[in-house]
Order: sequence, then structure tokens, then C-alpha cells
Amino acid sequence: MKISVTTNLSCTRSDAWDALHNPDVFQAVSAPFLSFEAKEPSTFPLRFESKKRYVVQARAFGFIPMGTQEINPVDSTSGDCTTFTDNGRGLSGPLKAVTTFRHQMTLQPSGTGPTKLTDVLEFRAGLLTPALWIGFRLFWWWRHKKMATMAPQWQNHATALWDERYNNTPLWSGAVNPTLISMIRGKTPGTALDVGAGEGADALWLAEQGCNVTALDVSPRALSRGEKERQKRVCSDSRERNIRWIASDSVTDELPAAPKTYDLVVSHFLHLPQAEREIIWKKLVHAVAPGGQLLIVGHAPEDLKSGVGRPPADLMFQGQDVRRFIPSSWSSVRVTRPRRTQRSAEGAEVEVNDVVVFATR
Ligand SMILES: C[S@@+](CC[C@H](N)C(=O)[O-])C[C@H]1O[C@@H](n2cnc3c(N)ncnc32)[C@H](O)[C@@H]1O
Repeated sequence: MKISVTTNLSCTRSDAWDALHNPDVFQAVSAPFLSFEAKEPSTFPLRFESKKRYVVQARAFGFIPMGTQEINPVDSTSGDCTTFTDNGRGLSGPLKAVTTFRHQMTLQPSGTGPTKLTDVLEFRAGLLTPALWIGFRLFWWWRHKKMATMAPQWQNHATALWDERYNNTPLWSGAVNPTLISMIRGKTPGTALDVGAGEGADALWLAEQGCNVTALDVSPRALSRGEKERQKRVCSDSRERNIRWIASDSVTDELPAAPKTYDLVVSHFLHLPQAEREIIWKKLVHAVAPGGQLLIVGHAPEDLKSGVGRPPADLMFQGQDVRRFIPSSWSSVRVTRPRRTQRSAEGAEVEVNDVVVFATR
């Protein structure tokens, strides 16, 4: 018999993947119905390793012995899906009645912001199978409820920081960045990647130009806000807007497996420490398709004296810093510093500069 449950987790796929390998999480999502004691080895590892064997003693409600169980994790990856398979089985006690046990937990971007967990259990226990199905189904419902509640605790530092910043009201204006309009207008790309997409104003604008957009951000909350806005706009004018919202840390995570390259790669105001932003720029350059374009926009370091809110000095960069990462084989690179006005916290109109790098491969 089979049980299949799906849940959205408000963390990146990598964070959820780490959690699925964490014995503390395994214990926490099983409590209070089942608790486990490590038998072989005699303590739980820091992380369940693929292709290793673990034997645990299970107890229902902390005291009813259920026998021992083998956990045999196997990790696999296919495109943007990662799967944790446990082919473990009951070794002794009541658990031995389960003759076949195959448990697969697959993580993939939901496409709407959070990470989707699909949890499939196939098992056989002879005549006890229907009765056990009810028990497992309830237990699986509980596990998913716990996982959805715990997912914010699994967030990496950057996700936790930005999800907190996006906590209440919208953080940005909701308006598309003017540089994107001026650079792209009239030449709609077929596919676009927006990295550090935030609440998705640029991704929405690109989708409204007819582009297929992949919008990445470390904050699932910001992306969900973008998806909500997308749905609202589609409802109001029935025009489809094609956007895949993916929660991912662009420093530590790979870019989505497909498509490998995009007609347009954009990133606006992604201000990170030097080593981190350089890792991202390299990935962005690699993600541009032949003939495609790259647009990276930042706040100019000189704006630090302007009185408007800006990231700390060590997170600022110049156009030339980005330019170094663009291969000389590309057909053009333009580094500009357009001016615009912005309101300061006191309400004054202040002249600010952006750093803009626009390159064609
Ligand atoms: C200043 S906001 C800019 C948002 C949007 N591009 C805009 O112009 O409105 C920077 C965005 O970068 C995201 N971010 C920060 N670190 C990131 C990382 N390592 N990977 C992906 N996104 C990240 C933040 O969550 C935030 O949404």
C-alpha cells in the first residue's frame, strides 16, 4: 500500500535537504508518537550518510517497545529534485510485521517560492496492511505538520535574515527598476533569470513582456509575495505571466538545472561581501546563452554620502569590479552610472547614482 503526502517548506531546498539528513529532525518530527534510540552505531551520527546502515530501537509514546528498525538512506539527484530514499525494514518486534518498506522524500522547488516536499511510503505487512495504513497515514500527516512548522528553523543565515526583513509590509515599491526597462525595452528575451528577485517587480515586468522568467531569491517569503501579486494580476486581466519562483542561496547553491542558460540574466541591488558577490557574478556570466545579455545593477559607493539608506561600504562595488568577470570574447560590455532621484528618510529629493553593467555575449 502507498501513502503520498506533499508539503511546502519555507526554506531553500538545500536547507530542507540538510534537515532530512539530521537525526535530531528525524526524532523531532516523529515525537511524541515514536521515539528512537540508536543501536548500531550506539549514537546517532551528526548526519545520516547515504549508503550507510543505521539500526534504531523504536518506542511508541516513549515507552511501548516496537522493536528494531534498519535505516538505509540512499541519496539521489535528478534535475532540480533531490531524493532521500530509505529502504530500511523492521528487524525485530512488532516492526518486523512490515515486510516491505520503501520511503522516498523528494525535494524540489515548488515554483511559487517555498520548497516542495513529496513524501511517498510504500509498505506491505500481510494481513495487517490495511490497519497499518491508517496508522501510517495519521503519522505521516503529523510528520508533515511538524516539518512545515519546523522549516523556518532550518533556514540558513541569509534566508533567516531576509525572511525576517520581509516579515510584515512590502519592503520595496513594487515598481520595476527603471534601468531594466531602459536596457530591455523593445527586445523581449525568450527566457530570463533574475537573481535576488526580492518581491518580484522586475520578474513580473519581464513576464508581462512575454518572457519565461526564473526568479531566484534566498527569501521564500519575498518570492511568495511575488507569486501572490502574479496571481492577482492574472486574475484581473487574464494575461498569463510565466514565472518560476525558486528559493535558493545563489552563493552556496547551484543555479537551477534547467534551462542551463538564459537570453537575459539580471541582478539588481544584490549587495553582498566581496567573496560572495564574486561567486554569484561568475555564475551569472555562465548562465548567459550565446547572444544573450547580462545586466547587473548596484548602488554606487558614492551614494554612501548622499543621506539615503544604503548597504554598508564593504558590500558596495563598482562597475569595473563586475567587468573583470566578463570574458573578452563577449561582443560588448557597457559600464555606466545613470543618475536618478530618490527620497531620503526625511522626505528630501536626493540625487543618487547606480552602477550598471550591461553586456552581450
Ligand atoms: C536589495 S534586495 C533587491 C530586490 C530586487 N532585486 C529589487 O531590486 O527590488 C536584495 C535581494 O537579494 C536577496 N538575496 C540576498 N542574498 C542572497 C543570496 N545569497 N542568494 C539569493 N538572493 C539573495 C534578498 O533576499 C533580497 O531580496
